[in-house]
Amino acid sequence: MDYRPGLEGVIAAETAISFLDVDHEEIVVRGYNLLDLAREKTYVDVAALLIDGALPDEARRSELERTLVAESRVPEAIWTILRALPPSMHAMDRLRTAVSALAGFDPEVDDHSPEANRRKGIRALAKIATVVANLHHIAEGRPPAEPNPGRGFVENMLTMIVGRNVTPAEVRAFDISLIAYSEHEMPNSTFTARVIASTMSDLYGALTGAVASLKGPLHGGANEAVMHMMLEAGTPEGMEALILNKLAAKERIMGFGHRVYMKKMDPRAALLKETLRTLVDAGADGRWLAMGEVGEAVMQREKGLYPNLDYYAAPVYYVLGIPIELYTPIFFAARTAGLVAHVVEQHAANRLFRPRVRYTGPRGLKPTR
Ligand code: ACO
Repeated sequence: MDYRPGLEGVIAAETAISFLDVDHEEIVVRGYNLLDLAREKTYVDVAALLIDGALPDEARRSELERTLVAESRVPEAIWTILRALPPSMHAMDRLRTAVSALAGFDPEVDDHSPEANRRKGIRALAKIATVVANLHHIAEGRPPAEPNPGRGFVENMLTMIVGRNVTPAEVRAFDISLIAYSEHEMPNSTFTARVIASTMSDLYGALTGAVASLKGPLHGGANEAVMHMMLEAGTPEGMEALILNKLAAKERIMGFGHRVYMKKMDPRAALLKETLRTLVDAGADGRWLAMGEVGEAVMQREKGLYPNLDYYAAPVYYVLGIPIELYTPIFFAARTAGLVAHVVEQHAANRLFRPRVRYTGPRGLKPTR
């Protein structure tokens, strides 16, 4: 049988959710270009597109926004569990624990019908946003920030994270980043969620596995690593020197390269760069954009590699004042909408994932006493 290390290029599922059309540099999400959605729509619209299957009309949009805000209160027990964990524990590990525990508070946890999965998905999306927004507060011994029913879903999330009133421009930048992170075909975390769902295990189990997958620096963890690198570099000249040193030491440069895009630009990186530029034009520190551009040029020259989404999402979050340990949890909160769509689809037309191996170990050994 054909063996592809890392399942590179293997078609693992049929899906009507999304597709990376690398030749045409388009991320297709239920027929739309993700970049068009980011420019024309809001995250709540895209969540409806992913979970319901179609962009919402005005009535559905306000209903979903209301439901998300109403469902974004988290049971007190979740805060108690999070407070019991060591604050030094990685934020993604704390999030993984909370997502797993949320299953206990969902009355439909073991109903895998598309309707129940969609209802659970919306509850999970709402509550995960509040958990993510509070991971930092809880770790620092502060009480959790509560969602305000007078604010929209995305505005609430950003306000809870940064603990101050935010401007419409900041909400827009954050919303665009959530759309960019919302869905992306079959990355490791989505594959993980579908593999778990294929045993007819529940949505929360699939999401919990996906958090573990997304934590890794080769996947979602890269956005935090990018910011640490930029802070270490400090200046555009420092960025060039740091990248050259890392390459000489055969280190990977976080935020560059992608299994599917290979040596092409991730369209989402261009979107987030544009978002960063808008924030800079509105008065944010321009240093990170300048460093980003230097890093891009160095990597293109030295390795022929282009940035992925994480490379520019990191400085966008930094100028918004978001704590670095929340960058990957925010990626997960945004991706929850896409993951829910994948679990609904997997459960609705399930075939258990059960691949084979190419065995390279010994045979014929006999156990001795
Ligand atoms: N820095 C330096 N070299 C790189 C990088 C990088 N970021 N990415 C790939 N390469 C090089 C590899 O060293 C390898 O070179 P070689 O053939 O000379 O050995 C070649 O490019 C191919 O790399 P592979 O690891 O085989 O490619 P793969 O498809 O497995 O890797 C991955 C994709 C994991 C994303 C890789 O590009 C990487 O490690 N990037 C940094 C981490 C990162 O940014 N992850 C976020 C991904 S996007 C997301 O999750 C939102």
